Amino acid sequence: MKDFMYFNPVRVHFGKNAMAALPEELEKFGKNVLLLYGGGSIKRTRLYDRILADLQAAGKTVFELPGVMPNPRTEKVYEGIEICRREKIDLLLAVGGGSTIDCAKAVAVGACTDRDFWQAFFKDWETAEDAIPLGVVLTLPATGSELDKSSVITNVATGEKNSYDSELTFPKFTILDPTLTYTLPKHQMVNGIVDTISHLYELYISPPDGECLTDELAEAALRTEIRAGRAAAADPEDYDARADLMWTSSFALCGMLNNGKETDWASHCIEHPISALYDVAHGAGLAVVHPAYLDYICPDALSRLRRLAVRVWGVDPAGRTDEEVAREGIRRTREFFRELGAPATLTELHVPEEAIDRIADLTDLGCFSYRQLTREDVVAILRTVL
Ligand code: NZQ
Ligand code: ZN
Repeated sequence: MKDFMYFNPVRVHFGKNAMAALPEELEKFGKNVLLLYGGGSIKRTRLYDRILADLQAAGKTVFELPGVMPNPRTEKVYEGIEICRREKIDLLLAVGGGSTIDCAKAVAVGACTDRDFWQAFFKDWETAEDAIPLGVVLTLPATGSELDKSSVITNVATGEKNSYDSELTFPKFTILDPTLTYTLPKHQMVNGIVDTISHLYELYISPPDGECLTDELAEAALRTEIRAGRAAAADPEDYDARADLMWTSSFALCGMLNNGKETDWASHCIEHPISALYDVAHGAGLAVVHPAYLDYICPDALSRLRRLAVRVWGVDPAGRTDEEVAREGIRRTREFFRELGAPATLTELHVPEEAIDRIADLTDLGCFSYRQLTREDVVAILRTVL
């Protein structure tokens, strides 16, 4: 096990009654609140009305940043920064999925620097000195942003999708009510399941290979996600399944599963330029990229992929070579994504073959574990899923 430092300060309220905690959380912050949300789902579900009532009852002055788009863009962050500076915002309240939360995190640090937020944080990785506090009400379990410190923002002008994190961008509190996810369209739920499995894979399929608690926890989380994913696909209002999906996606990125591991993130590094250039949903991109990446590195990660196949997918190793077992685990991953309705090829994502070189050019080659990928490797991986 590698040495590690673990820190996660997020207060979590979880369950059917978790929204009841919002008033007590609001009391802890100043008067001016910026409410951030997406393209309107929270209005359709009436969650907006409920939150506004709580804000008004708490005596807050409410400003709004609506229209945070999936794969949130720099323009939206600038808009939020401008409101924060003008209105002296005391609390950012992000209601939605990873895109809204990530936008809020970028606004949180961007409003507290004199520098351009993109250059300072997402290019130069400057240490943030200050941030506006952030609270979260999660409506889409997927990214883990509600329990981590990362923010991922797209710069359409340059085709970059970069991330930034700081201990100041951890949410102060997160409300996780699984019933808020009943209204998710199936493909969004599936994107979330794929993203969660991908996060668990990025952490688990990395050295060291020996036995350790972190790997056992990751295996349990993977089995839970697969079981709950199937149950929620069959019955969208299966509370226990929704609760497991919500808690597993948050748990995946709370930091616990990084402990002692090298971690990988190659599939994420390849997927990010795809979603930046083609505005593909992150989970859909990963459904195509991640199994292809695993097939490519199978000889380098053989023992770990064999273990994944046996312990997570229940593959019987009797009479099979290690490579056959490992590849069967990858095949079952791909089949599970397919069974849920996720895409399997670049064509299904509307990404043309000619785009592969540009995607490879924009792929960050700094985050791999079992095998150091080159630009040519990225091209070769993407060519397997045309
Ligand atoms: O915009 P609205 O109308 O709210 O609709 C949203 C959006 O269209 C809809 N939705 C969310 N909750 C709903 C709902 N519709 C009905 N009922 C509900 N309860 O879902 C759509 C997608 O939302 P979005 O926030 O874009 O999805 P997700 O949570 O998957 O976030 C994706 C973004 O997070 C980044 C991704 O790259 C992508 O930009 N990531 C962030 C990470 C982090 N901060 O740690 C890590 C991840 O690996 C990822 O990179
Ligand atoms: Zn992800």
